[in-house]
Amino acid sequence: MALTRISATSFAALAMTLSLAACGETADDTAVADTETEMAAAPADMDILKVRHDNFEGIGDAFKVIRGELEKGSPDFDAIQANARIIADNAVLIPEHFPECTGPADGADTEALDTIWEKPEEFSAATERMLGASRTMLAAADSRDAATVQAAVKELGGACKNCHDQFREKED
Ligand code: HEC
Repeated sequence: MALTRISATSFAALAMTLSLAACGETADDTAVADTETEMAAAPADMDILKVRHDNFEGIGDAFKVIRGELEKGSPDFDAIQANARIIADNAVLIPEHFPECTGPADGADTEALDTIWEKPEEFSAATERMLGASRTMLAAADSRDAATVQAAVKELGGACKNCHDQFREKED
């Protein structure tokens, strides 16, 4: 049920609450109550960047495993399930990983674009799309049907690209 906890509206509200706190100040306690990470990281405290990076790396690696399995004659559906779970669990954390003051405008060493904080509703929508696609992938993994997993890979890949195209620095 954790997957359904974060709605587009609650994330947008959270983003707005956080935007009230200036960089370096502590955000409203109610906004940070149940998160492990300090939400309003001062520019000097960029631990969140590593957490954010590792979370996406985990998603990327798991997605690679799933696509790799599909290339085999008989995919290992247990491996697909385990990696679909990693993607879904990591995806739920994305909204917590973009507190104010952790963008390039704040001097952060990051591939995230400032657009994330300028257009919180669009970023929230891209995150919601990812959450939906990760749930589709979980269900597909349970089906243990290669064609169903293949379709879920396509949907998930579209969700990655949709967000990267808008909110991540382009790779040359
Ligand atoms: C809601 C937006 C969003 C979605 C959805 C998303 N990403 Fe990302 N991703 C980002 C951003 C922003 C960064 C840059 C983070 C940074 O540098 O701080 C990133 C970085 C990465 C990185 C590099 C790690 C790093 O921090 O340098 C990988 C790998 C990655 N994403 C893979 C994926 C895959 C695979 C998917 C889909 C299964 C996905 N992402 C979905 C926004 C997203």
